[in-house]
Amino acid sequence: MARRKKIYEGKAKIMFEGPEPGTIVQYFKDDTTAFNSKKRDVIEGKGVLNNRISEHVMVGLDSVGIPTHFIRRLNMREQLVRAVEIIPLEVVVRNYAAGTLAKRLGIEEGTPLPRPIVEFCYKNDDLGDPLVAEEHIYAFNWASQHDVEHMVTLALRVNDYMSGLLFAVGIRLVDFKIEIGRQYDGDFHRLIVADEITPDSCRLWDIESGKKLDKDVFRLDLGNLSDAYAEVARRLDLLPGNNAVVPRRTG
Ligand code: TMP
Ligand code: ASP
Repeated sequence: MARRKKIYEGKAKIMFEGPEPGTIVQYFKDDTTAFNSKKRDVIEGKGVLNNRISEHVMVGLDSVGIPTHFIRRLNMREQLVRAVEIIPLEVVVRNYAAGTLAKRLGIEEGTPLPRPIVEFCYKNDDLGDPLVAEEHIYAFNWASQHDVEHMVTLALRVNDYMSGLLFAVGIRLVDFKIEIGRQYDGDFHRLIVADEITPDSCRLWDIESGKKLDKDVFRLDLGNLSDAYAEVARRLDLLPGNNAVVPRRTG
């Protein structure tokens, strides 16, 4: 097979040129980083689980009319996605206080928020993805006011959908991060959910026990990360056996 052209390698994924113009192959690695790569490891099987979980969430979003970059899963570690221009903002939605919000504002982790809070961080590893205000977004032309309004709406719709999906399997969606891209059609563009939605990019707590089932297990050394992700996949009925880590092959 001819070698594919690598477009970009990130911390957890590699993007290759897709088979047709406007498509990209997104490969999920086992590499795991936290605190802007200060902590890193390779967690066997994580990429396989994230590929499957992101597929499931993106297909679900599409099914309720929320546009995403996902086209189809190609194999255990790869999915075909639409090429987009990624807006350089991480859109974070929070339902309960945790992580940097709890720390920054001195609010006890787990405190329910009266309504979901949407935050923007400027995507820049050298700066540690700093939190920014809308004024910064306009001042530095990262997105227009129209785009920002649309991003907030998309993020809240994703929150509603995912909160329900996870609540049904006994998991609380504490917070999550999405990335949004512009898909061009001539002079026009539409905004679609891109990147990944996985336990790498969410905080997921078991509703009964409060047990963490997300990347905080790695960040805080709480146990085996792939076991936590497999538990999420198992509850979403994405695993062939009861606890097998390796999803079934489709092709
Ligand atoms: P934070 O509490 O560290 O700001 O994170 C908020 C949410 O965003 C949490 O679900 C984890 C996710 N996140 C990422 O996906 N990537 C990142 O680089 C960071 C810092 C957070
Ligand atoms: N994604 C960031 C990193 O790789 C931060 C984090 O998830 O904690 O370092």
